Amino acid sequence: MRTRGITQADFHQIVSVIDYWWGGPTSALAHPMFFHEYGHHALIVEESERMVGFLLGFVTDRAPRVGYIHLVGIDPEVRRRGVGRRLYEQFARQARVEGAVALKAITTPGNQGSLDFHKANGYTVDFVEDYAGPGRARYVFTRAIDAAALVDPAGG
Ligand SMILES: CC(C)(COP(=O)(O)OP(=O)(O)OC[C@H]1O[C@@H](n2cnc3c(N)ncnc32)[C@H](O)[C@@H]1OP(=O)(O)O)[C@@H](O)C(=O)NCCC(=O)NCCS
Repeated sequence: MRTRGITQADFHQIVSVIDYWWGGPTSALAHPMFFHEYGHHALIVEESERMVGFLLGFVTDRAPRVGYIHLVGIDPEVRRRGVGRRLYEQFARQARVEGAVALKAITTPGNQGSLDFHKANGYTVDFVEDYAGPGRARYVFTRAIDAAALVDPAGG
C-alpha cells in the first residue's frame, strides 16, 4: 500500500465511488474546495495502483491550530486493514509540520463504525446537541497530536 497526495483525477475518482462506499448519497460532502483550495492536505491510499481510501481535511488558521479531518472513506472491501488509521497518521504528521497541536473530526449519530474507529484511535468523544444547528447533534472527536506516535512507517 502507498499513501500519497491527491490529483484532480483522484478527486474525480473519489466523487464517483463515494456514494457506493458510504451506502447512500454522500457526494455533496466531497466539496470541490477540498481539492481546489485544500488539496495539499488531501490524501489517498493505493493498493496495486487502485485507490482504496481517501482523506479530505485542512489545518485551521487560528491558534491553537487544529488538523480538521472533514471526510475519510475506505473501500468496503478493504476495511479493518488499517487503511483509515494510516490516513489519519499521515495527515497528523503533515498537520503537525504546519503547527497543528490537535486533531478534530465529527460524525453523525448512528455512524457506529466511525464512532468505534475514533474511540479505537484514542479520540475523546463528545456528543454535542445542536452542533450543526437546531436538532442536528454530532459526535465531536478530538485528540492531541502526539509526536511520539508519529513515527513514519516505512514506505509512507
Ligand atoms: C470508519 C472507517 C473510515 C474506518 O476505516 P478502516 O480502514 O476500516 O479502519 P482501520 O482498519 O484503520 O481500523 C482501526 C481500528 O478502528 C476500529 N474500527 C474501525 N472500524 C470499525 C468498525 N466498523 N467497528 C468497530 N471498530 C472499528 C478497530 O479497533 C480497528 O482496529 P482492528 O481492526 O485492529 O480491530 C471506514 O469504516 C469507512 O470508510 N466508513 C464509511 C465512511 C465513514 O463513516 N467515514 C467516517 C466519517 S467521515
